[in-house]
Amino acid sequence: MKAAVTAHSKYTISDIDPRLYGSFIEHLGRAVYTGIYEPDHPAADENGMRRDVIDLVRELKVPIVRYPGGNFVSAYNWEDGIGPKESRPTRLDLAWHTSESNQVGIHEFAEWCAAANTEMMLAVNLGSRGLDDARNFLEYVNHPCGSEWSDKRRTNGRAEPWGVKLWCLGNEMDGPWQIGHKSADEYGRLAHETAKAMRAFDSSLELVVCGSSNAHMPTYPEWEATVLDHTYDEVDYISLHMYFENRGKNTANYLARSIELDNYIGTVAGVIAYIKAKKRSTKDIYISFDEWNVWYHSKERDKATLAGAHGWPHAPALLEDDYNFEDVLQVGCILNTFINRADVVKIACLAQLVNVIAPIMTVPGGPAWRQTIFYPYYFASVFGRGTALKLHVDSPTYRVDGLGDVPYLDVSAVHDADQKAITFFIVNRHHTETLDLDVRLIEFGALTIVDDQVLAHSDINVTNTAKRPDNVVPRKGDGAVASDGRLGARIPPLSYRMIRLQGLLS
Ligand code: AHR
Repeated sequence: MKAAVTAHSKYTISDIDPRLYGSFIEHLGRAVYTGIYEPDHPAADENGMRRDVIDLVRELKVPIVRYPGGNFVSAYNWEDGIGPKESRPTRLDLAWHTSESNQVGIHEFAEWCAAANTEMMLAVNLGSRGLDDARNFLEYVNHPCGSEWSDKRRTNGRAEPWGVKLWCLGNEMDGPWQIGHKSADEYGRLAHETAKAMRAFDSSLELVVCGSSNAHMPTYPEWEATVLDHTYDEVDYISLHMYFENRGKNTANYLARSIELDNYIGTVAGVIAYIKAKKRSTKDIYISFDEWNVWYHSKERDKATLAGAHGWPHAPALLEDDYNFEDVLQVGCILNTFINRADVVKIACLAQLVNVIAPIMTVPGGPAWRQTIFYPYYFASVFGRGTALKLHVDSPTYRVDGLGDVPYLDVSAVHDADQKAITFFIVNRHHTETLDLDVRLIEFGALTIVDDQVLAHSDINVTNTAKRPDNVVPRKGDGAVASDGRLGARIPPLSYRMIRLQGLLS
């Protein structure tokens, strides 16, 4: 099977906002407790944070981490997580039917972010609470001193404000499962007024309003139109979420679902354009795809806890998907979609980062290790910085009901002009056939291959485990050739490949 790609240095989609490779930590399951925070762990730092986990997060170069939820935020009192730890209350978390000890709050999370070399993206509770708590939280986090909440922060040990710029106005407010679920009009009004108040404090904030929880919500895409009609002038991003499953064990259909993701992004981009035109606005709004991942392996296992069969446990194992090799390909295709839509998707958060549907897993008291999906995320985050290229792709296709013709070749490319580098992220969706890839590289000058990494495995169901964390690891690709403005490579069936080329030093 052959596929041809043309890349031209002048044919670009957009500069990539580095925050396209963000992630997410929610007070859910073991993400926080025994995930990032485990004071008794041998690798714990002076704040009780696991250094082994911090090292893996640094390796991923995660630019931002959304916090503290998720569904959790919609009944969260942020004040529960400040002040002396021994006086913090334990609360029942209604979203996940667990107990929250509040031993980690904004101070601990901020310190963890500094250690992990990442920025905070904070969410305010617009479910059980509203504008007043949002503005108080903002004052606590961002005001230097001389007001009730900023002085409390100083008393609690942090003199300097954290200066968080990116704020989510609630979470999945279209979802009937959400505490404080609202209609689009109710939410739109509240989000508008909250945004206005937050902007009155600091007009340079970046605000994210909730879009749909997924493209199958009955309110989609009218939700986006109504919410943006209320909030267009006050917000900068609309958030979207999407999770992927392969319950039917049909790999071809599963891997085609990034086409659905692409359609979802396209539709919401259309709604944004519609409201912009309706308001005669000159301002642009972008998409913050702040929850995405594969999520289905753990759902059966979690049912009892979520139904309350185990009472209100603290930090139980929840949403601990064991990712297989097939998921590597899916995550590779999703990341390619974001890169190819970098003109409208500026922020995206892999949900989540540690233990909960996560690339990084931990054993309490034991090691931290990389799941299979760690690797495509790593390659995109580390090497996908620069300008997304508009590729012309000519690939054989297969038919999927509802999605049309799906190319076997899924590809994106990023040009890093400073490094004189182009990186291709490639997935071969074909089950059995190798893909002969021929790329024409126009106006890039002489290039040489500087890195070539392949993820392939004979068993698509293989997983990494704490005992065998190296079942799926990248290996060096071979046989790729770059010369005379062309790159040739053979892409094995059902495989992921990253090829990085760089300008020849003269
Ligand atoms: O990431 C897990 C959950 O998925 C989040 O809490 C929620 O926002 C979404 O439904």
